[in-house]
Amino acid sequence: MALTKSHGYDLVSQKSPRSWTAAELHKPLFLTNPDVSVRGLNRMTAIVTGGGGAIGRAICRRFADEGVVVGVFDMNGTSAAETVELIHRGGGQAHSFVADIADYEAVKQGAAAFERVAGPTEILVNNAGWDRFANFLDSDVELWDRLIAVNFRGPLNLHHIVVRGMAERRRGKVINIASDAGRVGSSGEAVYAGCKGGLIAFTKSLARELASRGVNLNVVCPGPTDTPLFRDFAGEGEAGQKVAAALERAIPMKRLGRPEDLPGLVAFLSSEDASFITGQVISVSGGLTMHG
Ligand SMILES: NC(=O)c1ccc[n+]([C@@H]2O[C@H](COP(=O)([O-])OP(=O)(O)OC[C@H]3O[C@@H](n4cnc5c(N)ncnc54)[C@H](O)[C@@H]3O)[C@@H](O)[C@H]2O)c1
Repeated sequence: MALTKSHGYDLVSQKSPRSWTAAELHKPLFLTNPDVSVRGLNRMTAIVTGGGGAIGRAICRRFADEGVVVGVFDMNGTSAAETVELIHRGGGQAHSFVADIADYEAVKQGAAAFERVAGPTEILVNNAGWDRFANFLDSDVELWDRLIAVNFRGPLNLHHIVVRGMAERRRGKVINIASDAGRVGSSGEAVYAGCKGGLIAFTKSLARELASRGVNLNVVCPGPTDTPLFRDFAGEGEAGQKVAAALERAIPMKRLGRPEDLPGLVAFLSSEDASFITGQVISVSGGLTMHG
């Protein structure tokens, strides 16, 4: 049956090779469980760095809810173990690994240990990050080195170790958690912003290199999000509250982000629904930053 404008879109006048049938047009997108939000995550395996932190934990828990076996990587063993405990209590599967992502050998050992218990890694979320407020001219080399080690070198280590196997198996999804600071700049965090901007450019470049090898890489940029990292950055007490209030006024949706604002997009980009998306950068910032 040829379709007309009564279906809301004039398919007949498009120069497509053939008209769609009504059955094709009305095929349900989700064929089985209506509670499953994205396709293809069940029984996948994922490493999430910084999985003991606020945003990382929210991502790990969402993955576990989707049936993913999660490797919770964090240099803070206590908070990583807490994430695993929360997932186990919810009936999910997770394992914790203590590693400083800046340490190549520690990451290699952690990834090998995860793959021994869970099988090959199919999803990698580079979420661990660290920041310290300092105007650039007042900062020192020691601070730059730590910022670069955690926010840029760390993700490089994870890609080099984990993405190699994905490319060999021609199957993998990588989501890098950068920051809006890396897209638009941010006073008091020039080196951190530089690392996040570098992570964005690195992701796009690797997405090009691996597009034909079954590995998709995308970037998610949180805006200001109420987490321990944000509180460290904004400062304690009245000064910190003023920073938070000023940001809330500037954000079109009039609130700071919350950790649970991030996992939906990460789950989507990790899923089969996002198979034709690579090298993209998406902000989750309540409209604070809007890019074309
Ligand atoms: N909170 C924000 O406002 C905001 C804004 C933009 C981007 N981000 C990014 O989101 C990500 C998560 O941040 P968050 O706000 O949840 O912070 P968080 O401090 O709550 O969590 C960060 C986690 O990373 C871990 N970590 C830090 N350095 C590590 C290392 N070297 N090796 C292994 N683990 C390490 C920490 O132990 C912690 O558990 C970071 O990449 C951060 O840069 C956060």
